[in-house]
Amino acid sequence: MSGPADSSGQTRRGAAQPANPADVTERYAQRPQGSFKALLRLLPYAKPFRMQFLIVFVLVVVFNLSNVYQPYLVKVAIDRDLSNGAHNYTGLLHISLLYVGLVLVGVLASFAQIMVLQYSGQSIIRQIRLDLFRHIERQSMKFFDETAIGRLVTNVSSDTETVSQFFTQFFLSMVRDGLSVLMTIVAMFELDWRIASYAMVLIPILFGISMAFRKHLRQAYQVTRTRLSSIVAFLAENLAGIRITQIFHQERRQARAFEVLNSAHRQANVWNYQVSVLFNRTFELLGNLAVAAVVWVGGSAVLRHAILFGTLYAFITYIRQFFQPINALTQQWNTLQASMVSADRIGRVFMVEPIVEEPIQADPVVVDDVAGLVEFRDVSFAYQTGRPVLHHIDFRVEPGQLVGVVGATGAGKSSIMSLLTRFYDPTEGQICIDGRDIRTMAQRDLHRVVGLVQQDVYLFSGTIADNIRLFRSDISDETVVASAKAVGAHEMISRLPRGYDTPLYGKGANLSMGERQLIAFARVVALNPKILILDEATASLDSQTEELVNIGLQAVSQNRTTLVIAHRLATIRHADVILVLERGRIVERGTHEELLALGGLYAELHRKSGIEAAPEENRPHQETYASSVLVHPTRVPE
Ligand SMILES: Nc1ncnc2c1ncn2[C@@H]1O[C@H](COP(=O)(O)OP(=O)(O)OP(=O)(O)O)[C@@H](O)[C@H]1O
Ligand SMILES: [Mg+2]
Repeated sequence: MSGPADSSGQTRRGAAQPANPADVTERYAQRPQGSFKALLRLLPYAKPFRMQFLIVFVLVVVFNLSNVYQPYLVKVAIDRDLSNGAHNYTGLLHISLLYVGLVLVGVLASFAQIMVLQYSGQSIIRQIRLDLFRHIERQSMKFFDETAIGRLVTNVSSDTETVSQFFTQFFLSMVRDGLSVLMTIVAMFELDWRIASYAMVLIPILFGISMAFRKHLRQAYQVTRTRLSSIVAFLAENLAGIRITQIFHQERRQARAFEVLNSAHRQANVWNYQVSVLFNRTFELLGNLAVAAVVWVGGSAVLRHAILFGTLYAFITYIRQFFQPINALTQQWNTLQASMVSADRIGRVFMVEPIVEEPIQADPVVVDDVAGLVEFRDVSFAYQTGRPVLHHIDFRVEPGQLVGVVGATGAGKSSIMSLLTRFYDPTEGQICIDGRDIRTMAQRDLHRVVGLVQQDVYLFSGTIADNIRLFRSDISDETVVASAKAVGAHEMISRLPRGYDTPLYGKGANLSMGERQLIAFARVVALNPKILILDEATASLDSQTEELVNIGLQAVSQNRTTLVIAHRLATIRHADVILVLERGRIVERGTHEELLALGGLYAELHRKSGIEAAPEENRPHQETYASSVLVHPTRVPE
């Protein structure tokens, strides 16, 4: 957020803003590079679980102690109770019981440690995921214009999962396996420092092998993961556009593209396994060689009566215990690297700030007191710097008026409406409602005042009633039904097997376009905005339904400032004022009659649509509003 909004309604942008948001979006798009810093930035999420991590640490120590003592107990049994003709049954029994006790303690400690750690790790990830989702939801339209949805899906689903492995696997391994190596070394030196010293020769060898493999292990793992993400991203994008794929018979081409990704993934995965198996087997081989060496060196010592047989046994076990954790530690490089890359990707999302900013301190808007005066004061706008699409737009709509906006495709009609709903902010000028700059209003307030009905309907998974009230519990069932009745949707909904409780599949696929639009209309009526924007519609409604909707919406647009964008001029001929847009400029304005008399662009457009317009004369009032209602559905007030 940049500087505070002053009373004149100008937010101090530009100078007060540290980074150009466009650059930040660009940075998001760059290839992520794993860095430890990125992980550290997520560390505050672990802070609430300090206690749990401490408990895990203690449990790990207990677990390791139990592991280290087990071979020692057996050694004692062998040397004290079995060797040299000793027949110490009671001693054996004690040792056995103690052994069982140790094993039980170890199992319990291990169980508890995993439970506590997983609980903490999963809680951390739940929080990161939630924050990430909220953060993405807050982003401005520009971000979504420029970002592949599949990519965001990967960020929220699998990147968070990978980071969780840092808090669970990596942390656990560092502590458990690290301690295990240390304790085993100590135990070996306690037993016999000479053999222990021989064993220490292993450390540089193991270290060397780990180093040699590390790079390959990491690369293979990373490439596999990247390729899997590509598959997920491809799927997400592709399934979203499945209709287009089918209608244009692109299945084969898409399947081929998918096949390429899959082959690449297979290749990477096989390579990944090759490297890890090779590494594991090398370790195993070395472990067995070490055992053989201990048998030779230690066995000779036993024969020379330099050490006891039990000591040899314990040594063999310790040597085995020595390899396993080092192997595990080496493997953790993968986890660490992957977590760093994922943390970096998550960090990049968090870095993107919405270009459309919330005012720092906004006086609340009393929705009921809003009159609905809309003013554009010399507004210019560009989606991309240097490519303006709106130039010096200046107009004023009195409360309750109906304004028509016409113009060719790409003239900038929808862009004007996107500014009024603050999907974007103007590059220059000011937009005011009741004289107050909309940038000084909380967006939540703004979207209660301004309702938008767009061309494409968006419905959420849920019932029809949910979609009409947009999950707002303060809208009663009665209001839902009344709203549906107001736009003539009630009959259609009642015909459905489960009426208002009919569940909608993804985006309302089980309804026709027209039905979706009716629901979308009911939605905007239920939300009851003071200013209503209707951006291009009619297409999906048959003329009968259209008329029904019109009658309803005529009632609804009473006492409401209404802005209607229409290609069909008949739709807006009764508007209080019509704005004619050409290449981002208002070139004419006036009533239908005035504009016809002017004989300019509007008159020309009207002449061209003459065939269509003729029968309209017989139709009394043909404002055809339709399309999707979208009152910022993601910002449902709780
Ligand atoms: N998200 C965007 N990013 C970049 N440029 C955009 C974006 N949306 C629209 N434009 C450009 O802005 C210009 C105006 O688009 P706009 O959608 O406002 O036109 P319109 O008058 O609503 O057209 P139509 O009648 O086809 O709906 C067009 O040149 C378009 O290419
Ligand atoms: Mg448009």
